[in-house]
Amino acid sequence: MSGIRSVARGIGSYLPERVLTNAELAQRVETSDEWIVQRTGIRQRHIAAEGEFTSHLGLIAARRALADAGFAAADIDLIIVATSTPDQTFPATAATIQAELGITRGAAFDLQAVCSGFVFALATADAHLRTGAFERALVIGAETFSRILDWEDRGTCVLFGDGAGAMVLEAVQHDDAKGAGVLTTHLRSDGRHRAKLYVDGGPSSTGTVGHLRMEGREVFKHAVGMITDVITDAFAATGESAESIDWFVPHQANRRIIDASAQKLGIAPEKVVTTVDLHGNTSAASIPLALDVAWRDGRLQRGQMVLLEAMGGGFTWGSALLRW
Ligand code: UT7
Repeated sequence: MSGIRSVARGIGSYLPERVLTNAELAQRVETSDEWIVQRTGIRQRHIAAEGEFTSHLGLIAARRALADAGFAAADIDLIIVATSTPDQTFPATAATIQAELGITRGAAFDLQAVCSGFVFALATADAHLRTGAFERALVIGAETFSRILDWEDRGTCVLFGDGAGAMVLEAVQHDDAKGAGVLTTHLRSDGRHRAKLYVDGGPSSTGTVGHLRMEGREVFKHAVGMITDVITDAFAATGESAESIDWFVPHQANRRIIDASAQKLGIAPEKVVTTVDLHGNTSAASIPLALDVAWRDGRLQRGQMVLLEAMGGGFTWGSALLRW
């Protein structure tokens, strides 16, 4: 079928310099490297420096993605930043990144779907590009979750980290079913679960930023079913399958969730890109961070079929299937 398709032209990422190990965390709260590794697969996470904001992380990732694509900042007319940890309540972190890149045309806005943010932002950018309204988009996932963690709560503070990843998408006319681009996206939300993973503050309720609260076991219980449902939808929409995909790049929350999802879908373990051990859960940044790792180490090749999925607060969940 001919039409416009959103093709991934480049990817980039950034992690703050400071690495926080499980051993260091065990000095702050009652936990152990053994517990964290066994229950989550996480060994370390990166933490933004004082004065280093979400926009700073996202800007570096964006510049790296532009360089990877071989595009100038002026080529971009749409910026979507997926984040739950914006620099300020407003303006959007996307507006800050737009200004820092020297872009004065098009549109820039933030999108908030917590850990599913990158998949939601990718689907939103894809929809806008396919209308013909925009030509080239920067889709950025950037987070500084270290700023909203309760560092006394061992049930959450060991799980999250800071980072950013960015993807450059271009609208391309195509008449080739086998061509590169985003093939399908599937987004879901169910706000009845909102109290299982939330932040206990906000501009309209408390006037404070608040801290992340999570019923981990409850989130875990729903995660695999929700993830596999939207992936089944992606396979049904495209005729692709666990066998035909080359890489499964899931949101990186917990190694056990990733493994159980892959196993339930019949995706071979060697097709799974895992970075949760080194990055922790970076929320909306985790998928583009993982994609960038696989791209730079040479696993991910042009023409390959890539499956993305995420699940997080709301609950929100979603999948995207693209040919790289
Ligand atoms: O990205 C957004 C989506 N978020 C997620 O996907 C997170 C989903 N949830 C999880 O990944 C897991 O539920 C956790 C990693 C958060 C927890 O693992 P779990 O196997 O579900 O453990 P649990 O919550 O059932 O806790 C087991 C025990 C508890 O003690 P009792 O009640 O059995 O005595 C906890 O108090 O482990 C205790 N515990 C800890 N122990 C050492 C909780 N956190 C820690 C800790 N260190 N950091």
